[in-house]
Amino acid sequence: SALALAACSAGTGPATGVANGGGSTQAAAAKTLRLSLNQTEQHPSFIALKNFGERLAKATNGRLGIQVYPNETLGAQAEALQLVGDGSVDLAIVSGSQLEKLNQDFSVFNLPLVFDSVESQMKVVNNADIVGDLYKSLESSNQITVVGGFTQGTRSVYTSKGPVNTPADLKGQKIRVQDSPLAIAMVEAMGASATPMAFGEVYTALQSGVIDGAENNEVSYVTQKHLEVAKFFSRTNHLVGLDYLIINSGLLGGLSAEDRAAFDKEWAATFAEHTQLWTAETDKAVQAAEAAGAKFNEVDAEAFRKALEPLTAQYLKTDTQKALYEAAQSAAQ
Ligand code: GCU
Repeated sequence: SALALAACSAGTGPATGVANGGGSTQAAAAKTLRLSLNQTEQHPSFIALKNFGERLAKATNGRLGIQVYPNETLGAQAEALQLVGDGSVDLAIVSGSQLEKLNQDFSVFNLPLVFDSVESQMKVVNNADIVGDLYKSLESSNQITVVGGFTQGTRSVYTSKGPVNTPADLKGQKIRVQDSPLAIAMVEAMGASATPMAFGEVYTALQSGVIDGAENNEVSYVTQKHLEVAKFFSRTNHLVGLDYLIINSGLLGGLSAEDRAAFDKEWAATFAEHTQLWTAETDKAVQAAEAAGAKFNEVDAEAFRKALEPLTAQYLKTDTQKALYEAAQSAAQ
């Protein structure tokens, strides 16, 4: 299985492997880029990115490789954003919520109702005709280039107290959200009270009762062990979430034409692999969670859709934002 694969070392690199914080071995290259990730080594993003590094090392005859640092070893996403900008870390996976802080236009793809499935999301977020300008928009201000997107799958609410069926059931419950105005507005529209915090703090906050629940996909629910401390997973399906691979713009601009072409080609193979892994790993996560005692339930989907609908108009303000939204909607069809 992918889980077992992630646990063993691949050793396909040209030189000796280097150990990382998580104890696995990754291929070394003449120049090894450091990539910050907040997921475990069992997560599809770690697996796909590790394979990315190995293929890149091969394609460049060992000139360029990637070392993936999982588990927030290099910092939580807010720090990773800073570190990639100042060049002390080369690459990172950050959630779309992080980029909203630097350019509001990113919030369009974080709207609850913009994508109706992982498939339609992936048709849009790696299509340069649609996202080209957006992904370059942070280069002069922040020295950050967005390479492309990884799906976060469909996100739902999970709580410690009992199943949620309607927005009324969330009244008075403290639900952790990602730290962005849209993420806060989203969970409040769903009836809860929003508590923003970093991903890595959620387990302890659930365990100690600082929060009553969180919202995420099935894969993170299991790999972060949140199921141990919040066993009711209610399928609100309120958002198809989006992660981005970001890179320091100076570094990207400094690659030779040959290495740049290899990087782009292997990235395309990487998001394709990630999307494929996603479905399989989601199914496995649900099975593992159920086996461990988690309870999944359907909700009043129409009630949640109605509650979330007003956000679209509120967050589509400029012509650029409206154009991105239109492009996303039509590409998805
Ligand atoms: C998902 C996503 C992460 C994000 C996390 C969160 O797991 O893939 O990038 O940080 O959700 O809710 O913070």
